[in-house]
Amino acid sequence: MRLPRSVEAADVDAKLVLVRSDLNVPLEDGRVADDSRIKASLPTIELLLERGARAVRVCSHLGRPKGHDERYAIAPVRERVLELVGDERVAVLENTRFDDGETKNDEGFARELADGCDLFVNDAFGSAHRAHSSTVGVARLLPAYAGLLLLAELRNLGKLLGEPERPFVIVSGGAKVEDKIGVLENLGSRADEVLIGGKMAEDVRAENPFSFEAVLPRDVVAASSFDADADTQVTPFDSLPDGWLGLDVGPQTRADFSQRLAGARTVFWNGPMGVFEWPRFAEGTFAVARALAASDGFTVVGGGDSVRAVHEAGVADRISWISTGGGAALELLEGKELPGVAAIPDGD
Ligand code: 3PG
Repeated sequence: MRLPRSVEAADVDAKLVLVRSDLNVPLEDGRVADDSRIKASLPTIELLLERGARAVRVCSHLGRPKGHDERYAIAPVRERVLELVGDERVAVLENTRFDDGETKNDEGFARELADGCDLFVNDAFGSAHRAHSSTVGVARLLPAYAGLLLLAELRNLGKLLGEPERPFVIVSGGAKVEDKIGVLENLGSRADEVLIGGKMAEDVRAENPFSFEAVLPRDVVAASSFDADADTQVTPFDSLPDGWLGLDVGPQTRADFSQRLAGARTVFWNGPMGVFEWPRFAEGTFAVARALAASDGFTVVGGGDSVRAVHEAGVADRISWISTGGGAALELLEGKELPGVAAIPDGD
């Protein structure tokens, strides 16, 4: 894996540094509902401050506003960043997507962001698959470096693309198999086993889109309708009663998947095993989360839903690497070049 040059190699003393972080966090009632991405962005900002930067100008997008839309104002995020860093040299710019130029990688907007800055540090792994003014445009205008989070993501996810310790087991789930074909084809052909749950398992059973045979569920928790309180029964995976829906993997599958994961030395998990937002259909997803936590191999979780599941299962601190990037992690593991990374010169 090619690594871009690190912020640690930059001379930042007395410099004004533009930092692109991915501070795209969920808000609830005007407050930050989950600050994990903010906390993951702090080490780079703190490093710059410790090394004597004159000022650190942080920018990020927030949500997907169409132009200037106050519901996506960065204020609550800014408040949380400033509370956590507690240093008056740090400023957080307004949501980059309030400017129409951002998503077009407009040079004029990149110039505005870069104005007066001495160098640029891209730490926004979660946005590295976007060729926008704040990720790519500014890297053409200023000497560009990779932040600590961006590099940690590339190193950890990169292990899955190199020579992972075997057995290498992938667990995948979620609703749509189309979204996962690229990544599963690229990683799955290197893996010893690919375990598939969630609704996409039904698609794979109907027609296998992969060049390898996946391990499918043995049984499912079937529900009479798509409802948290629906009638349920456990049925074999291939004999769901007509009109019933498989909303979780069943107990035999949980045991089977857990056993296969127990023997793995490397695991990548993306996508839930069922509708885990409803407690009666969460057991399959939590069983996978616990199996990863129990493993002493190298375990990686990527993708919003599975990340949420490891937190809800209370095992996040026992996972080797939890990626802060959803789409970016999938594109990287699919073997694609990320434009935000490609825009930074090589490291040594
Ligand atoms: C994410 O949440 O995956 C990143 O912040 C990218 O957001 P986007 O898909 O709106 O570009």
